[in-house]
Amino acid sequence: MGYPRARPRRLRLTRGLRDLVAEARLHPSQLMLPVFVSEAVGEPRPLRGLPWLREYPPVSGELVEYLQSAMDLGVRSFLLFGITPTRDPEASRAWARDGPVQVALRTIRRELGWEPVLAADLCICGYHSEGHCGLPREGRRGRIVDNDSTLEVYRRIAVSQAEAGADIVAPSGMMDGQVAAIRDALESEGYWDVAIMAYSAKYASVFYGPFREAMDSAPRWGDRRSYQMDPRNALEALREVELDLEEGADIVMVKPALAYLDVIRLVKERHPEVPLAAYNVSGEAALVELASREGLAPREALLMEVLTAIRRAGADIIITYHAAEAAKLIREGFNPF
Ligand code: PBG
Repeated sequence: MGYPRARPRRLRLTRGLRDLVAEARLHPSQLMLPVFVSEAVGEPRPLRGLPWLREYPPVSGELVEYLQSAMDLGVRSFLLFGITPTRDPEASRAWARDGPVQVALRTIRRELGWEPVLAADLCICGYHSEGHCGLPREGRRGRIVDNDSTLEVYRRIAVSQAEAGADIVAPSGMMDGQVAAIRDALESEGYWDVAIMAYSAKYASVFYGPFREAMDSAPRWGDRRSYQMDPRNALEALREVELDLEEGADIVMVKPALAYLDVIRLVKERHPEVPLAAYNVSGEAALVELASREGLAPREALLMEVLTAIRRAGADIIITYHAAEAAKLIREGFNPF
């Protein structure tokens, strides 16, 4: 018997060879950084649940400096979340002209122009008194989250975010028909140039814990399983994506990312031509933080392996709370592979 002619190890022997044939690569422009703006604070404050990040007053110079510092590292896109102490049954701070996200959008546009890509989370869970992503009402099964009345609120939010300067609106509430409703509202107000990044396959996940703590957005009753997807389902994600594309989505999303790499791959294979985002959520980021703090894994290498795995699975865009740190590592040529 001769030696095997195929020797996969030949291309693994040096860093140069490995880099030459690497399939998945990370670039800072593929990372989107979530940014929290709060009308409850007068100055930047560490976020409960995500303590390596801060919440910023929407009019502050610090907010602008924060974005600028991330841009200096190569991060060019941001996803804005609003925090308000004023919750009501209309979720009015979500669509008010002077709501936290709207004010932040105007502040950033005034100071940084159209260079940063600004996406706005479009949901009501942080603004509604009951903490659900849709409007509750009494139904024949008791108190439920209604679908179609919620769409009216979403339309209003979309238009207000477009008016304030969003490049992208990102509906995360998982109501049926939300993309169609938002597209229609945007078109009828003349905002044909606002993209929709649809949270198409968003799962009812316990990985959202730290985020809900940061936003105080946990539902006040029940849970989100009547609108978010069942973690047991992968094929159903294809149906959700299909519907969102028919309704006019420009970018589709799978969320969470790390625990749903199979879903990312499935969606990418079915729709290779559609930009696909994956949201590396708060609980997943917390795992990286905790594992490295406990000395279970080297922090930087762990972070790069997680993000690279999400790229390898097929994500074009990664939404990550570690965007700035990862961009810095990439810039510095950090390479654990
Ligand atoms: C709600 C929303 C959630 C996240 C973003 N928008 C979670 C939820 O369903 O409560 C989660 C983000 C994260 O955990 O990082 N519209």
